[in-house]
Amino acid sequence: MVPSRVDPDQSASASAFAIPEALALRLRVARRVAVLTGAGISAESGVPTFRDAQTGMWARFDPLELATPAAFARQPRIVWDWYAWRRELVAAAAPNPGHYALAAIERHVPDFLLITQNVDGLHQAAGSTRIVELHGNIARVKCARGCGGVDTWEDAASEPPRCPRCGAFLRPDVVWFEEMLPVDELLRAERAARDCELMLVVGTSAEVHPAAALPAMARACGATVAEVNPSATPLSDRIDYVLRGPSGIVLPALVAAAWPPAI
Ligand code: APR
Repeated sequence: MVPSRVDPDQSASASAFAIPEALALRLRVARRVAVLTGAGISAESGVPTFRDAQTGMWARFDPLELATPAAFARQPRIVWDWYAWRRELVAAAAPNPGHYALAAIERHVPDFLLITQNVDGLHQAAGSTRIVELHGNIARVKCARGCGGVDTWEDAASEPPRCPRCGAFLRPDVVWFEEMLPVDELLRAERAARDCELMLVVGTSAEVHPAAALPAMARACGATVAEVNPSATPLSDRIDYVLRGPSGIVLPALVAAAWPPAI
């Protein structure tokens, strides 16, 4: 883990990235802003993505084959233990300047929504409040049969803990591959995409749907769309601004350009 608690307003790196003036102005005057984030924004906090190499005892497992309902049905203990390991990694991580910069933008913009695909809770830890978690939150646990969430559970060696109401296994409250996204969250995200004047797309490969469709939806409805990512994505050629750099550098620079600190 490389935790960082630098506030974007005080970050020395804020001037290290050139922000297009027109984009800074667009952000400063916008009344409605939506942000879509993915695993890349947490990379600088040391949270491994699914596509990162696994370490230690998990190196021989393919994460894409652990995060499915079928995998849980086949080998519940292994899937439970893998999430318990990831939960510990996330609990030890701290927000980075990119997370803090988005919380700062929220404080300036009247109508703001942060739509995240991340399950790590680092946006909330940085102070973001107007947020939609499209893929759930790894800190939460729920009944696999649908009774709802539980706050505490006892770990047993041989199998996942059981729901105190119905006796089914407990599972992480995240959206697995092949599962539907939570309907209310997706509707809020789509509404924000359609209504916003500016959308920032940060640290996502823009390949996993339906989240990946939100930037195109925003643009089709007239929004300016800007991407923050050190690498090219399928979106890069189809949007208004591409800020090619790590979010921990680019986002604080964007905040400083839009709302320059008073001298
Ligand atoms: N700053 C910004 N972007 C970064 C950084 C960084 N420091 N480091 C990496 N990135 C970019 C990568 O270039 C890549 O485009 O972050 C993106 C991460 O892509 P993915 O790992 O595919 O993450 P994401 O788009 O969130 O995946 C969507 O798929 O893994 C499943 O359910 C999981 O929510 C996740 C979904």
